[in-house]
Amino acid sequence: MKKEKYRYALIGCGFFAQNHLHAWSQNPDVELVATCDVDFEKAKAAAETFGGTAYSSAEKLFANEKLDFVDIATTPPTHKMMVELAAKNGVAAICQKPLAWDMGDAKAMVEAMSDKNLPFMVHENFRFQTPMRKIKEIIDSGAIGRPFFGRICFRTAHDVYSAQSWLVESERMIIVDVAVHLFDLARYFIGEPKTIFTSAHRVNPIIKGEDSATILMHMEDATCIVDASYETRSDHSTYPQTFVIIEGTKGAITLSADYHLQVVSGTSVSNEVIEIPDHGWTSQPWNGIQDSVVNVNKHWIDCLRNAKTPETSGEDTLKLLDITLGAYESINSGQVFTVGSLLK
Ligand SMILES: NC(=O)c1ccc[n+]([C@@H]2O[C@H](COP(=O)([O-])OP(=O)(O)OC[C@H]3O[C@@H](n4cnc5c(N)ncnc54)[C@H](O)[C@@H]3O)[C@@H](O)[C@H]2O)c1
Repeated sequence: MKKEKYRYALIGCGFFAQNHLHAWSQNPDVELVATCDVDFEKAKAAAETFGGTAYSSAEKLFANEKLDFVDIATTPPTHKMMVELAAKNGVAAICQKPLAWDMGDAKAMVEAMSDKNLPFMVHENFRFQTPMRKIKEIIDSGAIGRPFFGRICFRTAHDVYSAQSWLVESERMIIVDVAVHLFDLARYFIGEPKTIFTSAHRVNPIIKGEDSATILMHMEDATCIVDASYETRSDHSTYPQTFVIIEGTKGAITLSADYHLQVVSGTSVSNEVIEIPDHGWTSQPWNGIQDSVVNVNKHWIDCLRNAKTPETSGEDTLKLLDITLGAYESINSGQVFTVGSLLK
């Protein structure tokens, strides 16, 4: 789909969608045609600031507007309905994570889009953070040899519930909310796991789901530990940063607090602080994540324009979801989950 400007609509104008709206507003390749939210005031406020016509119903939006793609930033229970609406109307879609809470739903969404040959990407943005792109580049350069161990970690006591109250009621919480990103990073840096084992807890009694989870991922020739917590206290808040350790046969990479990156390659050691691009609207402490939205958007447009499959396509996300939902299977059974079981 080669176009000078792509006509898009933003569906779901809540907390995280503000980052989408800001990032798109600086992207010269798109035009915001419409905003949509069941809470019409939110759609209206977004349209007043960023442009387009405001809608309170996605059905009406699709019926009235000619679109090249929709950017879906609603909460997970509505993702399936939105993606199927996009497919029915022949419109490409990018959808926020987690794609779904159920593999059957996710497969139906991917099928609906592929049946119509429509581009479909999941907004899996952690791999698009500037420091993560840099780590991948270093691994691919061979500087640390073959990775055999990883630790990917997101631990904080930041009050995530005041901005995202729906997380309090979510039966499945930190694994679908943040570990999903960490699993994707593990796959990006090291490769696909064969098995996973999860240990998880609810620390904060006011919530329904788990807020602390540790997952052991066993790859062909490597092990990766993914751990996430929303109840980890510290005198220096690093929210919402992800820490990474990748050890290889010739060296190691460590991304620690405040984007400090250390690379050991043979006998050489380098240390730098990764600069996060400032886009004007980005601000601390969210800037690393906000910047990743800019990168996701650029990637999506590149894929549309050059008929490329997105890195985090619907198909690819089924593999990620198999691991993510498999983490809960492991909690429920107390056993190791064999990756791929849910894809059959
Ligand atoms: N990738 C990231 O870093 C990141 C960070 C935070 C949230 N998220 C994801 O973004 C999504 C939204 O989360 P949030 O915290 O912004 O939620 P939110 O509740 O603040 O926003 C969701 C919006 O969708 C609207 N909505 C719900 N049903 C709708 C419908 N049928 N039609 C139109 N609008 C509808 C709601 O009214 C609300 O305004 C989730 O999937 C979440 O996991 C991603």
